[in-house]
Amino acid sequence: MRDPLQFLRGTRERYGDVVRVAIGPLEVILLSHPDLVEDVLVTRNRLWQKDRYLHQTLRPVLGDGLLSSEGDFWRRQRRLAQPAFHRDRIKAYGAIMVEHAARLASQWRDGEVRDVHKDMMHLTLEIVAETLFGANVGHQAEDVGAALESVLAVVSDPFELFFPILKRLPTPKRIGFDRGVVKLDAIIYGLIEKRRASGEGETNDLLSMLLHARDEDGSRMSDKQLRDECMTLFLAGHETTALNLSWTWLLLSRHGSVASKLSRELEAVLGDRPATFDDLPNLRFTGQIIAESLRLYPPAWSMGREAREDVEVGGYRVAAGEQVWFCPWAIQRDSRWFDRPDEFLPERWEGDFAKTLHRYAYFPFGGGPRFCIGQAFAHMEAVLLLATLARSFRLDVQSSPKPVPQPSVTLRPKNGLRVRIRRG
Ligand code: HEM
Repeated sequence: MRDPLQFLRGTRERYGDVVRVAIGPLEVILLSHPDLVEDVLVTRNRLWQKDRYLHQTLRPVLGDGLLSSEGDFWRRQRRLAQPAFHRDRIKAYGAIMVEHAARLASQWRDGEVRDVHKDMMHLTLEIVAETLFGANVGHQAEDVGAALESVLAVVSDPFELFFPILKRLPTPKRIGFDRGVVKLDAIIYGLIEKRRASGEGETNDLLSMLLHARDEDGSRMSDKQLRDECMTLFLAGHETTALNLSWTWLLLSRHGSVASKLSRELEAVLGDRPATFDDLPNLRFTGQIIAESLRLYPPAWSMGREAREDVEVGGYRVAAGEQVWFCPWAIQRDSRWFDRPDEFLPERWEGDFAKTLHRYAYFPFGGGPRFCIGQAFAHMEAVLLLATLARSFRLDVQSSPKPVPQPSVTLRPKNGLRVRIRRG
């Protein structure tokens, strides 16, 4: 419990690629070889469902959204939602992302000290709110942010995970959680109702695309389905990207030569103009920095599955109902797949490196049919926000409080991330 990340890594080194681990009342089988990840997530994915802990914590908030639903229901929802995340559809969001980042940049002052993780959370929340619901929800972003915070306080609390009994106690956190869900429901249902009432044709935001999506039999999503998908996208699409950027700021602060090379690329590709979607292929080093940051600090640091039936994995029997876990944090820092695994070396992604790597030695967005639907969205967002902010600023991470990764549902900086802003 003192250092779960190191513990999980050490387990593989001491005992091998398949290890049964008991952490308090939680018992899981840890799989640490990319072949086993591929077996579970891809090859024999039908023998598995999402793990019990995810269900316990997220289901009460997300309902039957994409992240937490199963079987035919999930398949239909994924089919309906997929086109909204197509590269050509999300292209238009690039301008929204850059505009919000530029607004944040205009608030940063040379020499001031800020919690940049808070800034990143706020920024990605505004972006997901606008891309999901259109420009007219800006004034509700504050309310959504506050409600989401009280929901996340419970969802990401490791004690809630280990001691589900807490869910039944009316602690202040629990009361905040219940109120947060009621508030979010009111906002989301309100927006859906308004949109339906307006009779407006299809616009470019995600809600509109989901609202107009039709299955082969002509059916559409109910309000409850729309609510669950919107809540899921809010939650899945906001903190993960913020974390990716926060950890990137930490790494850049510790590696001045990488930060300088980044500045040179931004200068050469963008000059004085704002970044756009079309710049993505040319912002190669920026993309490599994001990829390397996702390797060292994967926001989804662990994933799990529950066996639907008795199954053999890596030569061991796993009984129906048992939980397996794989940990991108540990696998992506395994010296069998990566040279100098703990070092921040964005250049390692140069050329064909990704092609030579085992497909599941690096999987920050998961894999198989349940891989992240927002991957292209997240990549574009991280590159454009980093390009926009790093063009004018360097951030020096302060030594106190020490930035420590805390593994809850996501991998967060335990005490935020205090930085001194430097223009330059
Ligand atoms: C750096 C940012 C992100 C990371 C690291 C990330 C990571 C992941 C991972 C690992 C999964 C698979 C979980 C599993 O198999 O158990 C996932 C699923 C998902 N993600 Fe992301 N994600 C990110 C950004 C986003 C964004 C921006 C959105 C939406 C706008 C999003 C929406 C989703 C949804 C809806 C699912 C469930 C897909 C399904 O099961 O069909 N994610 N994400």
